[in-house]
Amino acid sequence: MGKRVLVIGSGGREHAIVDALSRSPQVEKIYAAPGNAGIACQAECVAIKDSDVAALKEFALANHIDLTVVGPEAALAVGVVDEFRQAGLPIFGHTKSATRIESSKEFAKELMKRHNIPTAAYQTFDNYDQARRYIETTGTPTVIKYDGLAAGKGVVVAMTFEEADAALKDMLMDESFGKGRVVIEEYLEGPEFSLMCFVNGSTLHPMPVAQDHKRAYDGDKGPNTGGMGAYTTLPFITEDDLQYAIDKIMQPTIDAMASEGYPLTGVLYGGLMKTATGIKVIEFNARFGDPETEVVLPLLDSDIFDIFAAIATNRTVEDIHWSKDATLGIVLASKGYPGSYEKGFVIDGLDKIDATAYHMGTARNGEGELITAGGRVMIIVARGTNLAEAMQKANTEVEKIECENLFHRTDIGHKALK
Ligand code: AMP
Ligand code: GLY
Repeated sequence: MGKRVLVIGSGGREHAIVDALSRSPQVEKIYAAPGNAGIACQAECVAIKDSDVAALKEFALANHIDLTVVGPEAALAVGVVDEFRQAGLPIFGHTKSATRIESSKEFAKELMKRHNIPTAAYQTFDNYDQARRYIETTGTPTVIKYDGLAAGKGVVVAMTFEEADAALKDMLMDESFGKGRVVIEEYLEGPEFSLMCFVNGSTLHPMPVAQDHKRAYDGDKGPNTGGMGAYTTLPFITEDDLQYAIDKIMQPTIDAMASEGYPLTGVLYGGLMKTATGIKVIEFNARFGDPETEVVLPLLDSDIFDIFAAIATNRTVEDIHWSKDATLGIVLASKGYPGSYEKGFVIDGLDKIDATAYHMGTARNGEGELITAGGRVMIIVARGTNLAEAMQKANTEVEKIECENLFHRTDIGHKALK
């Protein structure tokens, strides 16, 4: 019988997951909670918040859901996986305690220290004076991270002492982020890349590596965002680099989590940096990355339902096959993002593009027209036999989207071709 799947989340990442599931011959019906206007073309959207665990569980039971896939960290961090498992519902994602590898920077750093996993040196503080004295001794540049889920906003790379001091005041004195606690890290330098792996307790299955572009404007200028574009096929990451990252970082982390009683059963995302002294961990995430997922999953040649279902039910994952093609995605964001922006602008031209559009923040107005409904609105993903081809195509196709309130970067992937 055809399978019924529920995808939790509402962004471009979840659209890419829904799209991959819709390619599975086993999947008969896909629901998304809450989904978005683009996801609605491939799944039935249900108006349940991604962190409303009780309502999600009730929906899954009432609708005979065979498998649930969790997109966002917020749902994992409130324990959706633990609740579903207790109810006997198969679900793909980590338990609440395993999710701490993302939700607590201090937990992640201590785990890495105990198990000799290469990362920046660090100290944790909850006292402003002590933190300030520490930075007086260690100097700048330095990196200050708020300890807790802060949706990418809790990291300050301080080039000067004044910047560092301001960040400490913000995080430890104003309590603007909630309960004050920071991790102060050694500043590292080098190209960053994202390595996502499917993890089934003790075994790992790597996905193609990708690179995100976090700054808002061309030339990596402007404020940090949720990600303005991404691509696969990174020329500066060799086969040896990848093997090193798997053998010295990803597998030891998976083993460490399992040996300490928090086995990983979902996606482990390594935000890694290739420094002059080797590859090091910048951060771990307990979920698919966004926008990396939108460029990685289109390359999956295997049936994603089999992968999710095997991990959700503790069975062996069969070999996973990936295309060798290159993909590149350009995010269209509302003018003003990541600051304040207006919503409700009509989007046209989607029917003219020869590329995939994954929706991130869209909705329909009363007339049924597609409108902007978020900071990041959609990502246009093109594919080619090599990166230059994918880049050229993505840049051509993105121009066909008509909307007066959107902007995008024009240099996604440029660093790779220099
Ligand atoms: P995170 O949220 O930990 O990924 O940090 C966000 C961004 O801050 C990263 O993508 C890096 O560009 C930068 N960053 C974080 N930690 C460091 C570090 N130790 N050294 C240099 N840059 C860092
Ligand atoms: N692309 C970074 C993240 O998903 O956190």
